[in-house]
Amino acid sequence: GSWYADDIDRMIVTEEDIRTRTDELAKQVAADFADSESVLLVGVLKGAIMFMADFARALGRYGPPVEVEFMAVSSYGQGTTSSGVVRILKDLDRDIAGRSVIVVEDIVDSGLTLSWLLKYLASRSAKSVDVVTLLRKPDAVRVQVPVRYVGFDIPSEFVVGYGLDYAERYRELPGVGVLKPSVYGRS
Ligand code: PRP
Ligand code: MN
Ligand code: MG
Repeated sequence: GSWYADDIDRMIVTEEDIRTRTDELAKQVAADFADSESVLLVGVLKGAIMFMADFARALGRYGPPVEVEFMAVSSYGQGTTSSGVVRILKDLDRDIAGRSVIVVEDIVDSGLTLSWLLKYLASRSAKSVDVVTLLRKPDAVRVQVPVRYVGFDIPSEFVVGYGLDYAERYRELPGVGVLKPSVYGRS
């Protein structure tokens, strides 16, 4: 048994689901960017670490050459809801002007992080900016963020695992599960 079984209500996206869907998304992106010289993946730390690693490798099997960059922004802080206040904790290391950029996210929840990020990247004169996210919650439709590639639409519950945290924990779980309310209710 796993140590985290007590904290997780149920798994909603398994390791296997992620592997299969990531491969499908990579094939789709490879086809759409077949004419591009290269694709610049911008992973959003820290949540996207697992998906970035797996998606980049999957794309490497089918698509144009990949380059990898990271940005760190934070909107959740320690809580379970988005504050809407986005802070840059780590900026891009290089110029993205003229590049085909794909933002790699673990989850689009309110969409606030992404809508802010897309404006920011557009101001840096990228050739194109698209988004691939493993997960999307229903609230995301309220903010008009164009998310081109979505792995799974999931219900509006607090999920952790595969990069997603609650108070910096659970990122290492191999799949995505619903956290028991008793966990974030206790202090
Ligand atoms: C989480 C998640 C997304 C964002 C989604 O990041 O990884 O980046 O929130 O929320 P939104 O659509 O409501 O803006 P968080 O700010 O918790 O930082 P982290 O990736 O380091 O956990
Ligand atoms: Mn994040
Ligand atoms: Mg977080």
